[in-house]
Amino acid sequence: MKEQLKERIALVDSVLDKYLAIKDNPQKTIYEAMRYSVFAGGKRLRPVLMLSFCEMCGGDVNEALPFASAMEMIHTYSLIHDDLPAMDNDDLRRGMPTSHIKYGEATAILAGDALLNRAFEVVSAYDGKYPERALKAINILALSSGTEGMIGGQVVDIESEGRGITLDELRYLHLGKTGAIIRSACTIGTLMGGGNDEEIKAADEFAKNLGIAFQIQDDILDVEGTEEELGKPIGSDKEENKNTYVSILGLEKSKELVKEYSKRAKDALAVFGGRAEFLKELTDYLTNRRN
Ligand code: IPE
Ligand code: IPE
Ligand code: MG
Ligand code: MG
Ligand code: MG
Repeated sequence: MKEQLKERIALVDSVLDKYLAIKDNPQKTIYEAMRYSVFAGGKRLRPVLMLSFCEMCGGDVNEALPFASAMEMIHTYSLIHDDLPAMDNDDLRRGMPTSHIKYGEATAILAGDALLNRAFEVVSAYDGKYPERALKAINILALSSGTEGMIGGQVVDIESEGRGITLDELRYLHLGKTGAIIRSACTIGTLMGGGNDEEIKAADEFAKNLGIAFQIQDDILDVEGTEEELGKPIGSDKEENKNTYVSILGLEKSKELVKEYSKRAKDALAVFGGRAEFLKELTDYLTNRRN
């Protein structure tokens, strides 16, 4: 699993490198700032999920690669903005000073905007074998990062700071800010790989559960992890009065839920039979992670 994971990450990185070339012009700083955050590190979870679903459905990963790199650009943009003083106010990300610490707030905001825009430049220029699938994939990508997806979840996250919310509200928030992008990574991979409707539905069910497990683990690591392991500050949630699974249910119950949701995620892969081994191992790896 680890070897395959490394290979997929390397493939994504090489394509990102190509799509994020620096231009030597008066706005050169923006290219540098975009690359700074993208190549600071990152697990590349979302693009790896996308390529894995594509391959599992018998597809050609080259058809999914523009989408996989666009997804990582959108994810990185969401992190740059998430760290801004107006949002979570964090100064470390992927083991490096956050974009606004390194370049100042104005350039950090613009670098986030630029990554979002670049993502759609890349996917709308798709000229592969399946234009109809690609058009649908672009729509899924846009919806999942928008007001009914990641941005929606971020709004609820920010508006819930400092006030008590129910577990249902927290689940809604997690499904938005984290689940939406993970879901579209998996469904786009399946779509571009030629998966049928049943497979797309299964990919979505997997991702929904993985997304929750992944964000609960993120909440746990904010309490139990170390800055060295995580590459981002710990205790940030408490400082910002965030609602998290840990703040509402405590550590032990949260850990049980990570196991429960990751089991549900793996169970959803049943339709793929033996082909799902890599994704099952990846699920265990992600939900036991320390970073
Ligand atoms: C961080 O995502 C934000 C969350 C949704 C929890 P990752 O943990 O995937 O961050 P990187 O991409 O590895 O830096
Ligand atoms: C962020 O959730 C999710 C998005 C960036 C969309 P968090 O605020 O918990 O992520 P970290 O802990 O800063 O990575
Ligand atoms: Mg946040
Ligand atoms: Mg944050
Ligand atoms: Mg967090």
